Amino acid sequence: MKNNPIGIFDSGIGGTSIWKEINVMLPNESAIYLADSKNAPYGGKSTDKILELSIKNTELLLKMDCKLIVVACNTATTNAITYLRKNYKVPFIGIEPAIKPAALKSNSKKVGVLATKGTLSSDLFYETSNNHASGIAIIEREGTGLVPLIEEGKINSKEIKDLLDQFLKPMLDEGIDYLVLGCTHYPYLMPVLKELLPPHVKIIDSGEAVARQTKAVLEKNRLLCLSEHKAVHQFYSNTNTQILESFLGDANKRTKISYLDF
Ligand code: DGL
Repeated sequence: MKNNPIGIFDSGIGGTSIWKEINVMLPNESAIYLADSKNAPYGGKSTDKILELSIKNTELLLKMDCKLIVVACNTATTNAITYLRKNYKVPFIGIEPAIKPAALKSNSKKVGVLATKGTLSSDLFYETSNNHASGIAIIEREGTGLVPLIEEGKINSKEIKDLLDQFLKPMLDEGIDYLVLGCTHYPYLMPVLKELLPPHVKIIDSGEAVARQTKAVLEKNRLLCLSEHKAVHQFYSNTNTQILESFLGDANKRTKISYLDF
């Protein structure tokens, strides 16, 4: 069991930003990654649909003998992780917008959150903002349209820049000094965001925190792989695999990428 893979899923390539962090922190651990690009974006779907897709991905990862599952998608975490934890035996790690660290560090007491509609309208997001951001103004924006463009690899496109300009303007007008990235696709926009934001606005994403949490939960459950274990990384996409290859970049050499109908 200890040498079984960590299962990771997302609506597409976004969760590879999380896999990269996990791989840096836990280089000997094997992983199986499901990119459910056929059903991307999850962000505008109903809670029931997001739950149904999350169950489908979870059951496939369990069939593949995963010892722990990372829901590498804010939208799936905020809409489905409570159900998944109640109904399956393996440990689950989720990802949510990092409001708490941003709220603690903000001097202007104004924090921007860019996330999907599904995340921003979830009960879990509402609870987190209430619990961790009292006295802080949260300026939320739905990043509608960004995920499909990222899935097409159009990271530096004019379309992306125009959308970001439109989403960031009201936040900057309000005086934010922290921007929380509440979607695992968005770290890939970091170069464009840095170009568009004034230098005093800091960007926070949750990738490293998720990797730390994954390590802690594996330790706690005595599930860390043996030290001599050689990691195998298998990625599956249910559309074309080229986009996954391009986002994995150099890491391609250490991974197997295949098409799978799921
Ligand atoms: N990467 C996802 C997230 O973190 C999903 C975005 C989407 O499919 O809309 O929310």
